[in-house]
Amino acid sequence: MNVFAANWKMHLGPADARDYVTTFLRTYTPQPDRAVWFFPPAVSLQAVADALAGKEGLLAGAQDIHWEPKGAFTGAISGPLAAQAGARAVLVGHSERRHLFGETDAETGRKLDAAVAAGLHPVLCVGETLAQRERGETLAVVTRQLAAAVKSGVDVTIAYEPVWAIGTGRNATPQDAAAVHRAIRRWLEARATPIIRILYGGSVNLKNAAELLAERELDGVLVGGASLDPVAWAQLVQTRIS
Ligand code: PGA
Repeated sequence: MNVFAANWKMHLGPADARDYVTTFLRTYTPQPDRAVWFFPPAVSLQAVADALAGKEGLLAGAQDIHWEPKGAFTGAISGPLAAQAGARAVLVGHSERRHLFGETDAETGRKLDAAVAAGLHPVLCVGETLAQRERGETLAVVTRQLAAAVKSGVDVTIAYEPVWAIGTGRNATPQDAAAVHRAIRRWLEARATPIIRILYGGSVNLKNAAELLAERELDGVLVGGASLDPVAWAQLVQTRIS
């Protein structure tokens, strides 16, 4: 089963999101070997969840949650609030949260716990910066990020997203990604994680998706920019996997 996850970031309000899903559903032919997960901004979560309700293999998720279930945290949403809006999954520790908003490994870990407590499937994002890669620290960074958040026996999807590949047009090669995925897989196996699913993210688009997905280490992709057009996204989701 391959997962195609669309991270809309700060795009597509409720009305645009509804139009998007209508167009996507018209263009997309459901395929039994793939699931499509949508991560709209919080204001559009309910619109997307409602539009996808009862559709096999399609779900909506939140882009971020606070670690507390409720309280005085102006501007934040919690796991239970996201779940009430129809979310079934959540991105945790996306590099933009870590690097633009200063989220620490410890905070990411608390958010992952909060996701599980709220019944949301966590998609933990990990990845190194260019400077870290050039210093040969990729595996050390990724392992540190995993260790801070993943508990034994918890069902989690990992998204390996090298920071230097996000939104830059410069994707990791399938071989680069596979080497890191293998290390992540070994790390998870040692901790008896129930289902091991590792997505790649960072400048995935219609042109490079087939080559990346041909690499067996990839169980799917997490896509930002190239997920914003519903027709192109439906095409990307239907990429032939060799
Ligand atoms: P991108 O973003 O596809 O625009 O590089 C990926 C992500 O941030 O999840």
